[in-house]
Amino acid sequence: MIGQARRIFILTGAGISAESGLGTFRDRGGLWSRFDPMRLATPEAFAADPDLVLDFYNHRRRDARAAEPNAAHRALARGAQALAARGGSLFLCTQNVDDLHERAGSAEVVHMHGELMKARCTACGSVSERRTDILRADACPHCGAAALRPDVVWFGEMPKHLDRIEAALARADLFVAVGTSGAVYPAAGYVGHARARGIPTCELNLDPSDNADAFDAARYGLASETVPAFLAELEL
Ligand code: APR
Repeated sequence: MIGQARRIFILTGAGISAESGLGTFRDRGGLWSRFDPMRLATPEAFAADPDLVLDFYNHRRRDARAAEPNAAHRALARGAQALAARGGSLFLCTQNVDDLHERAGSAEVVHMHGELMKARCTACGSVSERRTDILRADACPHCGAAALRPDVVWFGEMPKHLDRIEAALARADLFVAVGTSGAVYPAAGYVGHARARGIPTCELNLDPSDNADAFDAARYGLASETVPAFLAELEL
């Protein structure tokens, strides 16, 4: 069944960007073992200390800018093109806020947790491209208010593009999770949706995730090796 897949749903997490030098969250030495997410990644934290939160995301944006896509990002971009050539589709849903999928050539990337390279104005709601630091005094390019924040989803906020994601899940004939611990919902629940529809599921991860038992198949190892190898199994 996996080999015949035509509408593949790919969910990626921090593990796909690990070999590009961007830290994961829950591995040993991960971001949340060094920083308190409740002080840096919630709307309350931003209200309490905007400079601290802006500085945290400024550093993550600089790191993401300096990082390069790896073989896993590139394999997914190539795989999507090969699948489209066969009349199929690869829906790329990422929990990551870096732009490595785009820089590897993926044309359509659904960032359910938002994007570091976008700023959102808390006064007018507009979203603009932003590849440089955001400072509290910076003016919104649309309304001029000094009210910019990173356009990322914080704990307690609604993930983005949920309708598009659910629609793609309902059409998929193969579900693959890459480099995610399965610790954060709704993303961690998507494999359950896929199983309920009876489609094959596969996890490509460094080691078994929190919801490893929910997957029919798994390939454990570095994403830069397992992702190209898995797509080669699909002749993509
Ligand atoms: N190759 C493949 N998998 C890897 C690699 C690698 N080189 N390095 C780490 N991993 C795996 C880890 O084993 C782990 O299961 O990637 C996973 C990373 O898990 P998390 O750090 O929890 O990251 P993620 O699942 O993306 O977190 C989800 O939590 O804090 C929020 O918004 C944040 O989007 C993030 C969400």
